[in-house]
Amino acid sequence: MSEQPLVLGIETSCDETGVGIVRGQTLLVDAVASSVDEHARFGGVVPEVASRAHLEAMVPTVERACRDAGVRLEDLDAISVTAGPGLAGALLVGVAAAKALAVGLGVPIYGVNHLAAHVAVDIVEHGPLPEPTMGLLVSGGHSNLLLVPDVTHDIRSLGSTIDDAAGEAFDKVARLLGLPFPGGPHVDRVAREGDRVAIDFPRGLTSGRDLERHRFDYSFSGLKTAVARWVQAREAAGEPVPVADVAASFQEAVVDVLTRKAVAACREHGVDDLLIGGGVAANSRLRALAQERCDAHGIRLRVPRPGLCTDNGAMVAALGAQMVSKGRQASRLDLPADSSQPVEQVSS
Ligand code: KG4
Ligand code: ZN
Repeated sequence: MSEQPLVLGIETSCDETGVGIVRGQTLLVDAVASSVDEHARFGGVVPEVASRAHLEAMVPTVERACRDAGVRLEDLDAISVTAGPGLAGALLVGVAAAKALAVGLGVPIYGVNHLAAHVAVDIVEHGPLPEPTMGLLVSGGHSNLLLVPDVTHDIRSLGSTIDDAAGEAFDKVARLLGLPFPGGPHVDRVAREGDRVAIDFPRGLTSGRDLERHRFDYSFSGLKTAVARWVQAREAAGEPVPVADVAASFQEAVVDVLTRKAVAACREHGVDDLLIGGGVAANSRLRALAQERCDAHGIRLRVPRPGLCTDNGAMVAALGAQMVSKGRQASRLDLPADSSQPVEQVSS
């Protein structure tokens, strides 16, 4: 196999049908069809609606990706696909499509971990990953601190959320404030007009005793409840809710804990490079505070551009190309979709 394998990656773990094509470490195209608008009125992703949308979007999105990249399917060296974690029915659509392509083209298939792909995507933007890299992965479904000696086969979880994921907390608080779904980008936008020290919301799992048991774990459910109580108290008193201040103060509580623990993990493990990935990595305040704290501790920070932080096919292609380049074994054709694939299992 060549040093610069041409790999098509398929991502269908949630509501984005993503098809990316990577040559080696170069991104050729990142085509995404999203069903997010279809879920907005339900305030969350409806699994059956997402699966159906993936089915409809798959072939046109693969065709669009090839056309825009000027690549013929016959030129591909391998197919990679998100095998998990994610919504079971949604994953199945992507895995079935990837198998069909691999069989039809006679190329190997790599079933890869969605979370590892969120880390690997930064290779196409900022080059090879230092080994080890510390990964802070923050999305709608996950919040993890990962020690990553090798993104193709060695990822160790140092901690994760014990309740809501960071993105989930953003979405729930946005709903409480009457902002549209998905709420993260709206909270981010509204918070720019607010005062982030207006309200002192709780920082989960940061007290002495909590730190003993949950050194690198996160918890956002208590924060969400605190925001709800604060808003309800205002409403009950007949006072207007200062939406921008609540959004800014809530956002500060989330990004304060995320960055504090990520920097502590780097220092304790002697890691000089921190990479933030996942949808919440698009958050402007998270990016700014992470940069400030990394600078203060001599840590190099890498964050992909916002379009590569949210779910996409490029990340799956990027990880697939790494697997090929490093000579990792391809998956079997009967590879399963695993909705609860552990983060340590990079490929299946
Ligand atoms: O990685 P992703 O696209 O999908 C999952 O794998 O979950 O992440 C989606 C999450 C949503 O909860 C969304 O509200 C959040 O990322 N998000 C943000 C921002 N952009 C997206 N959260 C905070 N600030 C943002 N700018
Ligand atoms: Zn994701």
